[in-house]
Amino acid sequence: MRKNILLLLIAFSAGSLFAQSRWTTEEEEKAIDALISEMTLLEKIGQMTLFTSDWDQTGPTLREGYQEDIRGGRTGAIFNAHTADYNRELQRMAIEETRLGIPLIFGYDVIHGYRTIFPIPLGEAASWNTTLAEETARIAAREAAAAGLHWTFAPMVDVARDPRWGRVMEGNGEDVFLGKAMTEAKVKGYQGEDLSDPFTLVACAKHYAAYGAAQAGRDYHTVDISERSLRETYLPPFKTALDAGVGTFMTSFNEVDGQPASGNYHLLTEILRDEWGFEGFVVTDYTSINEMVPHGIVANDADAGELAVNAGVDMDMQGAVYYNYLEKKVAEDKVKLAKIDQAVRQILRIKYALGLFEDPYRYNDMDRQATNIFTVDHRATARAAARESLVLLKNENNALPLAKSIRQLAVVGPLAESQEDMLGAWHADGRARDCVSLLTGIQAALGQTTKISYTPGVSVEGDDETGIPAALAAAKLADAVVVVVGEKWTMSGEAASRTSITLPGKQAELISQLHQTGKPIIVVLLNGRPLDLSNIIDHSDAILEAWYPGSEGGHAVADILFGDYVPVGKLPMTFPRSVGQVPIFYNMKNTGRPFDAGNKYTSKYLDESNDPLFPFGFGLSYTTFNYETPTVTKAASEGDFTATFSVKVTNTGKRLGREVVQLYVHDLVGSVTRPLRELKGFQLVDLAAGESKTVEFTLSKEELSFLRRDMTWGMEPGTFDVYIGGDSRATQKVSFEY
Ligand code: BGC
Repeated sequence: MRKNILLLLIAFSAGSLFAQSRWTTEEEEKAIDALISEMTLLEKIGQMTLFTSDWDQTGPTLREGYQEDIRGGRTGAIFNAHTADYNRELQRMAIEETRLGIPLIFGYDVIHGYRTIFPIPLGEAASWNTTLAEETARIAAREAAAAGLHWTFAPMVDVARDPRWGRVMEGNGEDVFLGKAMTEAKVKGYQGEDLSDPFTLVACAKHYAAYGAAQAGRDYHTVDISERSLRETYLPPFKTALDAGVGTFMTSFNEVDGQPASGNYHLLTEILRDEWGFEGFVVTDYTSINEMVPHGIVANDADAGELAVNAGVDMDMQGAVYYNYLEKKVAEDKVKLAKIDQAVRQILRIKYALGLFEDPYRYNDMDRQATNIFTVDHRATARAAARESLVLLKNENNALPLAKSIRQLAVVGPLAESQEDMLGAWHADGRARDCVSLLTGIQAALGQTTKISYTPGVSVEGDDETGIPAALAAAKLADAVVVVVGEKWTMSGEAASRTSITLPGKQAELISQLHQTGKPIIVVLLNGRPLDLSNIIDHSDAILEAWYPGSEGGHAVADILFGDYVPVGKLPMTFPRSVGQVPIFYNMKNTGRPFDAGNKYTSKYLDESNDPLFPFGFGLSYTTFNYETPTVTKAASEGDFTATFSVKVTNTGKRLGREVVQLYVHDLVGSVTRPLRELKGFQLVDLAAGESKTVEFTLSKEELSFLRRDMTWGMEPGTFDVYIGGDSRATQKVSFEY
């Protein structure tokens, strides 16, 4: 009798609250009701449990025997298991050997490709090309879905302004506007039009929230920011992901305002569910429920589980906290059954949306796997994406492009031959042996008439300089030197923070000595964060930032080095002059004592300028662009306001080129102080040599709004300066009043 009343209550609350969702029809919600009413508490907790396979791991293994848990209905989700046949077998266990046969969902970190590896996300952000970013996500999804996967733990949308933090390589850099644009592209690319299309993956916006603001750039460290900066800077890309239809969110490891994210009611319920209306499910990051014990917010795992579920975490990744303690917490009435049912509903909803109830094996087709992975087409897109991600930072006396007729080329540096360092961190099933190294790419681009030598010179790390003389000897014989240096791929990504962001080891010394040969020195950088390049800039004729460019990186870099492609990339993060300037980003505030060289008591350093080495948005081309002064036209209709800006951009060089035309706004006076500049628009414009185009941007109230003193969003009357140009230091300006 009690059970029946309970069922009625659940069905009532379920039916009234969840008529349908973004992903499910009313019919499907009813089917979910029926299923939930059949499930035991342990089966429900099973749906809320995610375990890693022993196939591959991305963190500490806490437990064995995940297959037994599948068979017992104690886990409804598995990560780090892939390939169509392996996952088919695991799925079979869930379907055939459990009482209710609820399909598993398989997740994996498909961050910048599954087998075909694209540039790291920070590199892709440097392309500012959202169409391409969507396409690479679509391919990544296609490959991963062919390999038995349903769910990617991407995109990582954390705004990051501290290059010491190793995880900046996984995101879109420092800016909110660019970050939102890339986020939308990625979610659309992974998820496609409809999640039930078996060539798509459900995406996961991570790490919610403010993980990028870790103190001192140290991974997993405390975050202490104002509600204003949380909402203005760190949350908007998550909201964009939600608006683009993202099906899942992942909590972050850090605390925000004294509450670890995985137990943070404000973030998970008040904002995500109540304000934003999210209807999918929230998974924790790896064991982050358990980590609330060392955080010091609860005394033991059981209480951590209670805190997490009541805050709004639906699924526990790898911590086995729900698995071990949730039943007891329900018995003690510390966790309500309705809360559990809500979490289960949100998870089942996504399984429905993926079509897994219709056919649990729809992602497990061996033929599809054989024909959809690492295809010629996918590799061609990887090459295009890599080319567009490269940023030309310096090009003195047009040192680049090099002529293909060059007689002798010295390739130097510890990373030139490396295939694994083309991949970067989080390379899923990407394989080093599939990657085109820079040396191979250069060799493929040049004919038999060029003699190419290769000498590493030094290692990435360590003090050994004994290889430098051989590198110098090779350089002296050559007409130009390409030096490939940077960070090993393991030096960025998770748990890879650095206090020094200069080139490690003796690489700068190598460049300095090569420079003394008087030969043109072309530096190609492989790295996952903005570096302090102050000690190599004067010893290099050209510097090309290549990030970790992926499977086709060597070809892509060669395309640029020898002029088959004109560089288009622009920095998505500021490159500082020294780590002492960090955090440094373009949209800082003016302060009450803005820099004045003639006045000691203004905001500056004694030993360094305030300016970065390379600003946000910066990147050179093989041609040049001229901007005329923009004009503005305002229009107001009832309750609405728009301002349209026109600017004439001319290609003043000799080659066809693409410019990323950027628009920045400065709201001069606000009820809270405004940044000196905020990116509010960008467009990719192709221009033939000598060609001019008029580029138009329209800004509405939405772009010109901010979080006012009373914490509401809106636009305030006053004067706005608008700058349009090729980087965040753009000087062409027009002002308008609102
Ligand atoms: C990372 C996440 C990742 C997860 C699963 C964690 O350590 O922080 O970004 O998705 O592992 O591999």
